[in-house]
Amino acid sequence: MLHLLLASALPLLAAGKATIDAQIAALEAANSPLLAYPSQLTQNIVPKPIHSHNDYWRDVPLLEALSFGVASVEADVFLINGTLFVGHEEAALTPNRTLDLLYIQPLLKVLGEQNPQNVFTVGQTTPNGVFDTSSGTPLQLLIDIKTDGVEALPVILQAFDPLRKAGYLTTFANGTLTESAVTVVGTGNSPLEQVKALEPRDYFFDAPLTQLTDPSLNTTWDPTLAPIASTDYESAVGWSGIGTIPADALSNITRFVADADARGIKSRFWDTPGWPIRARTAVWQTLLENGAFWLNADDLEAAANF
Ligand SMILES: *[C@@H]1O[C@H](CO)[C@@H](O)[C@H](O)[C@H]1NC(C)=O
Ligand SMILES: *[C@@H]1O[C@H](CO)[C@@H](O)[C@H](O)[C@H]1NC(C)=O
Ligand SMILES: *[C@@H]1O[C@H](CO)[C@@H](O)[C@H](O)[C@H]1NC(C)=O
Ligand SMILES: *[C@@H]1O[C@H](CO)[C@@H](O)[C@H](O)[C@H]1NC(C)=O
Ligand SMILES: *[C@@H]1O[C@H](CO)[C@@H](O)[C@H](O)[C@H]1NC(C)=O
Repeated sequence: MLHLLLASALPLLAAGKATIDAQIAALEAANSPLLAYPSQLTQNIVPKPIHSHNDYWRDVPLLEALSFGVASVEADVFLINGTLFVGHEEAALTPNRTLDLLYIQPLLKVLGEQNPQNVFTVGQTTPNGVFDTSSGTPLQLLIDIKTDGVEALPVILQAFDPLRKAGYLTTFANGTLTESAVTVVGTGNSPLEQVKALEPRDYFFDAPLTQLTDPSLNTTWDPTLAPIASTDYESAVGWSGIGTIPADALSNITRFVADADARGIKSRFWDTPGWPIRARTAVWQTLLENGAFWLNADDLEAAANF
């Protein structure tokens, strides 16, 4: 009897699964609207506090970073003859690799997909960010100005107009900081006094992590001006990642991180060792264990799997 039951149950189970598979295949073949999850571009991708250093070097800037859940990217920008080109140095510039084509237009496209305008979203007041799993997490975009900062800033602000008009930029206005899908932060030659004077402000400043307490800078550092503070790891910490970290190097990490934390600012150490891999890993681990927020990475896959 038992034998008989099993014999008849097994083919039935197989038929059930096969029947469902056949229905799935038919739905997929019919391109059913039921299967199209509207904001699926970054589905299942968890945002991580990783900064994509020299993001524009990647085969596909921005999108590759998003595919790993990287929540901060960096573009080096040159203002030449009124156009903003993206690249590490003059030799790397081409007519087409502009801030608009590499970052602004792709961001508009991604955010357009995350923010469909329809009867369901009509009451939504804050736009979704790029990450579907965490729509309130802004993407940080660092603009490293390579040419004259005072000259480039107004052109850059204008370049962001399409994102600004769509309400996608984090903004400090009338004493209130309102986070949105993209937080733009100036670094490199970004001019501090001009950034401070912006009202409203949707271009922020990458603060000097080792000088947050330095009165000669005449600046009150807080997230309404500087959501991030960075420093060159090599000069601020210097430990190679091999052997034991010297006490003064470790105390610098904890001191600089504490200076940032006390102001609600997120810390980043760039120029960390890239090789040997065990040294890179030891430095990343030491930084994160001691409260550093952003992991500055060239190898996004390694950082995402860290
Ligand atoms: C910038 O303009 C000058 C003068 O018209 C021209 O000679 C030069 O080639 C231009 N540079 C670029 C990168 O377009
Ligand atoms: C690339 O740049 C050239 C020269 O400026 C322009 O004619 C062309 O339309 C650009 N291509 C794209 C895809 O924007
Ligand atoms: C800031 O306040 C001014 C004057 O009250 C107002 O016109 C403006 O819309 C406000 N800006 C924002 C972004 O709330
Ligand atoms: C200090 O900063 C304030 C506010 O940005 C500015 O008005 C003032 O001129 C600055 N003073 C010096 C000495 O730079
Ligand atoms: C610690 O930071 C100070 C700057 O505040 C710097 O002069 C010193 O070299 C740093 N120490 C190490 C070990 O990097």
